[in-house]
Amino acid sequence: MEKKTMLSGMRPTGALHLGNYFGALENWIKLQNEYNCYFFIADWHALTTGYEDTSNIKKNIDDMVIDWLSAGLDPEKCTFFLQSSIKEHAELHLLFSMSTPLTWLYRCPTYKDQLSQLKEKNIATYGFLGYPNLQAADILIYKADAVPVGEDQVPHVELTREIARRFNFLFGEVFPEPAAVLTKAKVLPGTDGRKMSKSYNNTIALSDDPETVRKKVMTMLTDPARIKKDDLGHPEVCTVFAFHKVFNEEGVQETESLCKSGGIGCVQCKKNLAAKMSCTLTPIYERRQDLLQKPGYIREVVENGNVRARITAQKTMVEVRKAMKIDW
Ligand code: TRP
Repeated sequence: MEKKTMLSGMRPTGALHLGNYFGALENWIKLQNEYNCYFFIADWHALTTGYEDTSNIKKNIDDMVIDWLSAGLDPEKCTFFLQSSIKEHAELHLLFSMSTPLTWLYRCPTYKDQLSQLKEKNIATYGFLGYPNLQAADILIYKADAVPVGEDQVPHVELTREIARRFNFLFGEVFPEPAAVLTKAKVLPGTDGRKMSKSYNNTIALSDDPETVRKKVMTMLTDPARIKKDDLGHPEVCTVFAFHKVFNEEGVQETESLCKSGGIGCVQCKKNLAAKMSCTLTPIYERRQDLLQKPGYIREVVENGNVRARITAQKTMVEVRKAMKIDW
């Protein structure tokens, strides 16, 4: 049986943190073994809200490629590429823009949300409104069957289905309707217990060296009611315990009962966590150090991915132009 096609993208927003890793990347790394996968860096999407200051985009792209490779995305198993290198996305976006009713775009929840949230940026623009059209082009040009995304992106995949349906109705069956696949994300709070986010300054980056990770763990907040080691603990309110759930699956029950019975102090519990995290993160860190020595290899990986993606994208565009009878 032929493998199904999966596709997903990430905006290049800078060094990935562990929240991003467990929210998406870890899942992609599993999927690459089971599906025909396309993963791409959505650099044009970064412009929709960040067109005024483009100074970091190049660096963010480089950082993202290294994050992906060091975490274990394997260019032999999946196709990973840079959106702006495949100009066909822009052509399909243009063609979709002709037939997508404005009302579909105005009612997109992310449009309304972001417009009110990002007040300091002027994003009442044509490009920002049309963003889901670009996303639909990204997905449909590879005829993806499934799109692994977080909850916030589901409306965009829904809109993509509508855009595919409308195109097929007007011009004949070209596109399959992709399904959103919700990632069952492991939830990892930031080091202060709030949501992990760069703007809260509470992240652990995938690129942090092992010593930095250890130090961040040692400063994490624990159960505020535990002052002395043999006070009884409440793991459900403890940030360190939330991390144990993700990094120490086999030891999590023991940690829980030791904490509740006052059998382990917070310092020791943190040390145990740091050791477990190191088992997962040190190999990623070491791969990164190795990759940093080989900038030529990194370029080559992305170039090769671009070539593979472009072949599929060009093939689809031949069909699209033919269906629309604009294949002069
Ligand atoms: N819009 C997505 C985000 O902001 C990124 C993205 C762009 C994407 N094109 C995509 C995701 C296609 C999945 C499929 O996170």
